[in-house]
Amino acid sequence: MLKPRKCLLEIREYHSPLSGEAKLRLDMNESTTGCSPRVLAKLQAMDAKKLGLYPPREPGEQLVASFLGVGPAQVILTNGADEAIDLVCRGYLEADDEVIVVPPTFAMYEVLAQAAGAKIIRVPAGEDFAFPLDEVIAAVTPRTRIIFITNPNNPTGVAINRFTIVRIAQAAPDAAVLVDEAYFEFCGQSVLDQVGKLKNIFVARTFSKAYGMAGMRMGVLIGASEHISVVRRMCPPFNVNTCALEALREALTDRQFVADIVKQVKESREWLQKELEELGFKCWPSQGNFVLCRFGHHKQAILETMLECGVSLRDRPDCPGCVRISIGTQKEMEHVVYLLKEITARIASANDPEIMPPSEPNAAEANGGATKVVTEAKLAAKPEVKP
Ligand SMILES: Cc1ncc(COP(=O)(O)O)c(C=O)c1O
Repeated sequence: MLKPRKCLLEIREYHSPLSGEAKLRLDMNESTTGCSPRVLAKLQAMDAKKLGLYPPREPGEQLVASFLGVGPAQVILTNGADEAIDLVCRGYLEADDEVIVVPPTFAMYEVLAQAAGAKIIRVPAGEDFAFPLDEVIAAVTPRTRIIFITNPNNPTGVAINRFTIVRIAQAAPDAAVLVDEAYFEFCGQSVLDQVGKLKNIFVARTFSKAYGMAGMRMGVLIGASEHISVVRRMCPPFNVNTCALEALREALTDRQFVADIVKQVKESREWLQKELEELGFKCWPSQGNFVLCRFGHHKQAILETMLECGVSLRDRPDCPGCVRISIGTQKEMEHVVYLLKEITARIASANDPEIMPPSEPNAAEANGGATKVVTEAKLAAKPEVKP
């Protein structure tokens, strides 16, 4: 009888929670603006013959290497940052090796490390999701092969001081320290300059977020050349497609587009956070293109009502009572706040003194206690999103 590898039997199927029906999707940290018009024009100008050929990855790697100021041998282009994570897992993990993750964080580290047969060691974040440096160092054993660090972290938006990362890399010289900088452009902090100096550091970046190219699937893994050489040995030669490579060249040239998006997202993020706090919801200062916000025991009701109004937000059961909201355009954020004001006003007028303020999680979340109040008080008018 055909049997899959044992470690795969223990992994649940991972389905991305794409909410296809929402008019405004704010649950995947995508860019609602999309890619640069110059990237789009480049794609539209592609000819049929080009699509008939296999795509050479190396010219793109040279471009990215010079953009990042590293050597081409230190860079490999990947099918999104997801593949960069997978390649490090497949390159460095033997069965029963240990990987350290700091939850709440990006789910794919556990999925891909487990698929490579590794044992997951979870070191939870501290108060207000602070990075637990001492605890991570204490968790390092001779079996530790990868330590995943997300900077800034998803879903909390908390950034990690670069000295913290360097200390971990020094404390665990036999482990790969994979620093996932998927949201680098919104934060500006990086340990890219440590690549090659600290031999065990890898940095992963993506064009899915600030560059608005999630549908293109283009990521980058940067590391010491001897390690990138290891990764190259098992990476399929045509893992990134012709359209993504074509887009990459233009995306790297149109720097103004990314600068403008980053500026707008940061401004809208601060505005949204202030508005959410005025509504009584706790938020955590975010360095990404999203905000983590605590709706408390109204979470489910708010999520459902928002979805009925065409807006999907991301439930984060790993952060009690919390929802992650991607930052779109300022108009879209104003629409979100408008809806939230309507919803919370209806909750308040449901005349339940226990209901407001809604920021503390409690048992009602588990039994759906507050859900009824809102679903009974559905928004009379459900305005369309007018970005
Ligand atoms: C921290 C983090 N890393 C990696 C990814 C995956 O990015 P990509 O679209 O490049 O695969 C995401 C996507 O949300 C992310 O949040």
